[in-house]
Amino acid sequence: MRHALLAALLLLPALPVDAAPTVRHVAASRLFFLETARTSYVLGVNEKEELQQIYWGDRLTRDADLGPAHTVEGHSSFDPPEGLSPVEYPGFGGARYAEPALKVTFADGVRDLVLKVVSHEVRENALLVRLKDVSLDLRVELTYRVFPAHDVLMRQVVVENQTKGVVVVESAQSATWHVPRWTGYRLTHLAGRWAGETQLFREALGPGRKVVESRRGTTSNHQNPFFAVDPGTSDEEHGPVVFGALAWSGNWRISLERTSEDRLRVTGGMNDFDFSYPLPPGGRLETPPFYAGFTSGGFGEASRILHRFVREQILPDRASPRPRPVLYNSWEATLFDVNEEGQKRLADKAAALGAEMFVMDDGWFGARKDDHAGLGDWTVNARKFPRGLGPLIEHVHGLGMKFGLWVEPEMVNPDSDLYRAHPDWVIHFPGRPRTEARNQLILNMARDDVKEHVFAVLDRLLTDNAIDFLKWDMNRHVSEPGWPALAPAEQRTLWVRYPRNVYELIDRLRARHPKLEIESCSGGGGRVDLGILARVDQVWPSDNTEAFDRLRIQEGTSFAYPAKVMMDWVTDVPNMNGRRTPLDFRFHVAMMGSLGIGGNLDKWSEADMKLGAGKVALYKSIRATVQDGRLFRLASPREGSLTSNQYVSADGGQAVVFAFLHAQQLNRPAPVVRLRGLDPAATYRLRTVDDKLPGTPAELSGSALMGRGLQFRLTGDFDSTVVVLERVAGGA
Ligand code: DGJ
Repeated sequence: MRHALLAALLLLPALPVDAAPTVRHVAASRLFFLETARTSYVLGVNEKEELQQIYWGDRLTRDADLGPAHTVEGHSSFDPPEGLSPVEYPGFGGARYAEPALKVTFADGVRDLVLKVVSHEVRENALLVRLKDVSLDLRVELTYRVFPAHDVLMRQVVVENQTKGVVVVESAQSATWHVPRWTGYRLTHLAGRWAGETQLFREALGPGRKVVESRRGTTSNHQNPFFAVDPGTSDEEHGPVVFGALAWSGNWRISLERTSEDRLRVTGGMNDFDFSYPLPPGGRLETPPFYAGFTSGGFGEASRILHRFVREQILPDRASPRPRPVLYNSWEATLFDVNEEGQKRLADKAAALGAEMFVMDDGWFGARKDDHAGLGDWTVNARKFPRGLGPLIEHVHGLGMKFGLWVEPEMVNPDSDLYRAHPDWVIHFPGRPRTEARNQLILNMARDDVKEHVFAVLDRLLTDNAIDFLKWDMNRHVSEPGWPALAPAEQRTLWVRYPRNVYELIDRLRARHPKLEIESCSGGGGRVDLGILARVDQVWPSDNTEAFDRLRIQEGTSFAYPAKVMMDWVTDVPNMNGRRTPLDFRFHVAMMGSLGIGGNLDKWSEADMKLGAGKVALYKSIRATVQDGRLFRLASPREGSLTSNQYVSADGGQAVVFAFLHAQQLNRPAPVVRLRGLDPAATYRLRTVDDKLPGTPAELSGSALMGRGLQFRLTGDFDSTVVVLERVAGGA
């Protein structure tokens, strides 16, 4: 234990040992220091009473190295100083031409907003700075929260209308982050589509704006609210990276603007597209949190920082973390054709594999026999379950598993009792077509009566049945975003009130049913962000369960989100893209997240069941390392013929390496895999699960594993292996 602890310390850059507060105000220089273990973020109030960023990077050791803030000198009538200075929360006003953080129209038509600092307050791990417009009583309170041990900052604002008229907010961003001055800027972000989410994209940022966003009412399968920026030279383990993630499951936007001064500003929060939020006198608007950090340890370290942060500061179980259970889900086995007998049979087999949770997916309610009917009617289908859900749940519990159920609470099929009773409850513009997608419309969750109805229905379902887990789905995006019950000027508040009410609904359900666990699914990875992750235990990254495609989807997801929340199923082949990969390859891919099984166990052979049970047992022996450990992406599926990931347990005592050969050229050996994050002086015992590491000693030093690496004997197409390393001796 002692050497494990020391080793863990060795792997981290030295931490400052002083016990100075994490937020300090130095009155003489009017500077604010926001400090984490390894970073400093410094702000200052300039001579025009504006809040400016001074520094963001590796932790500084001397306050005196930084002087007071000054506006940047303007150099022509076209570039006055106020537009060039790195102002922390710029309003649209004065001679400012870059992206504003806040844009409003006052009741008298004024559209000029110049925010000045009026006061500040230093709290424990937090800084509040209050701004006010130069002449009108519009106030903005900026909150900075510091997570010292995690090297993460959070920014959020509250806009408050103290004028006597209505102020229409046209854009209220959570933050503008000024990236350190580099000679170039490269963006890494996650984009894709349904069944192809979180593909990793990298692009150099030239002058102008690059925007990643969702206009779909929810996070979306198409872009994810995460960014990372580096100078274009950083790699997985080296170089500066600024990274961030939004905690918002509604329309969001991250805009990266490279100015004519060659600075990069990252402005993000609720999307300003189709945005209009009237604030009556006294009205307030709070923006979602925008989390960000700096590391000089490359993209891998940026991800590890986020993983730990999400696990320890965001997730509902952050105070007392629980491992995610091995789950079986019936969807790909039965589709809508569920019934008591068939589900019990699958549950028996899932239990034999070692599953710890059995989830019945779509099809159990209302008049559901396909996707044309039933959504909205959350009562048990009496034909499929004449005795209700009780006997199935008891059976599952009797097998020692938890019971989970699929729901899609925000949706309604026109062919449902709910829609027949309340056709006005859906999002729509009166007298105009209501676009159906998957034959469904969206309940206007922004309406409090709709929210209360859904709460009552789900509360009853959870009260009447011993349900341990909900898979909360959302299978389409918002269109025709009308809310006819409101005046036209108010209707666009839907974009804000819908996700807020969904959050409230989940929070209240969890409060009433404290043992309930939830998976966020939206036709796959359509609602994966730090906002929903504060209230759900795991996410479904994609409907595409094909193992080879999945390598890329999982790689992208791993940039921002920990393995613990990333649900991965082993399913049957050929998958939806027709590819056939071996069962052990599929298991190994799924074991790099939170393991699930989604195949039709009725069709699994005895050999498949034996292999599966062995893999589930293996997974349980490495689960803590995968779910809570430190991830090293050794080889990317986007490059070369091999993918490899390594996980190191929090105490350094165990490491797990997965390797996947995509396709082999005849007689060409698989690339060598060099490990990372080990103690060079320690000895590790290797536990192989097959014969794919021939001629390798049973024990190796960390230095050999990292320097010389492992030569796996992987051959043909879609070959894979896993090696477990247990630290046995030596080292610091
Ligand atoms: C989409 C989900 O992603 C699938 O896993 C499944 O739950 C279906 N919906 C059910 O309709």
